[in-house]
Amino acid sequence: MHAMSQMTDYGIDPQATAPADWTAQDLEHDRGWVFRLDDTARRDLAAAVRRAYDPMRTLLDYRRDEFDLGAAARPIAAAVAEARRGRGLSLLKGLPREGLDEKQFEVMTWAIGLHVGVGRPQGKASHYLSAVRDVGTNYRTSTGRGYSSNAELDFHTDSTDFVGLSCYNQAVSGGMSIVSSSVTAHARMASEHPDLVDFLHQPIHFSRQGEQAADEEPSYPHPVFDVEGGLLFSKWNRNRVNGAQTIEGVPRIAPRHLEALEKFDALVRRHDLAFTMFLEPGDLQLINSHVTLHSRTDFTDHEAPEKKRLLFRLWLSTPDGDRLPASWLPVFKTTEPGTVRGGILGQQHDERCRAFERRQAEAIGMRVVA
Ligand SMILES: [Fe+2]
Repeated sequence: MHAMSQMTDYGIDPQATAPADWTAQDLEHDRGWVFRLDDTARRDLAAAVRRAYDPMRTLLDYRRDEFDLGAAARPIAAAVAEARRGRGLSLLKGLPREGLDEKQFEVMTWAIGLHVGVGRPQGKASHYLSAVRDVGTNYRTSTGRGYSSNAELDFHTDSTDFVGLSCYNQAVSGGMSIVSSSVTAHARMASEHPDLVDFLHQPIHFSRQGEQAADEEPSYPHPVFDVEGGLLFSKWNRNRVNGAQTIEGVPRIAPRHLEALEKFDALVRRHDLAFTMFLEPGDLQLINSHVTLHSRTDFTDHEAPEKKRLLFRLWLSTPDGDRLPASWLPVFKTTEPGTVRGGILGQQHDERCRAFERRQAEAIGMRVVA
């Protein structure tokens, strides 16, 4: 029997949020968040991908039961559980990189996702997997997205419950991945700036960066923090908040509120809180976006196209999702656990997308909102 948890301000249950409350030093000293595939697991996973791979098929054509993960299933599940319910972050090392080409590696990333949840669309084109590589995008524009640039990114959360990022190629230099616990950042805000933390629970507008669907506004109100069922949820993206301030009709952020946002943004990148890691070829980083902020340093890329930095980003809705705060509705459309939700639906979310979501939801035991 657990003792009744003491509830702190805002209804946060400290016992429930404790695993995701870490500092950079904690991650450094205890590597319980790093998992590895052994040779057998690596072989099983590569074989599963080679069996199912067909260059004529699109990602949405693949079904969960086509991929028998074999000995890789257990370490994948352990890494997912750590990111979902533990620290909110994990790293799975040793994905088969040798012997799989870029397309097969992409399908492997997708196949892992088919065993974890339902993929979510990630932008205007309603695509379900992003190739994270520099194609010359300017991040600091009203339609800029970080994943297609080589810029240093602001600390942010992705618009989804769960994120997977697999690494195919590293840059020549830079491109380091940085993570920071929003649970820890909230506690520090409360202790260091008790007069400002309230502002972070009040909505500000986030820009949709011009990727809104026909029935969506160009920006939406959303708090940085909210609490539901004792759990703390966070959302942050300075680039999108700044972007929204240039949209007509969006309320201007008051100076004190802005000060709170700036203090918070400075706090999450502080060296004692933010942990920096290199993603190496064959690494898969997993993140619970509600409790972990991430960023990336700028990078210098290879000249040869086949060597250029390349990662694959997966957004997932998972069967064991928590009930979300009501303030999460503008992005997630539903707060219900066990329901397919989140992502950026974009402008091509058609019947083919919906058919994939229905089929995959059924395969993994989730509901789809009509
Ligand atoms: Fe991101």
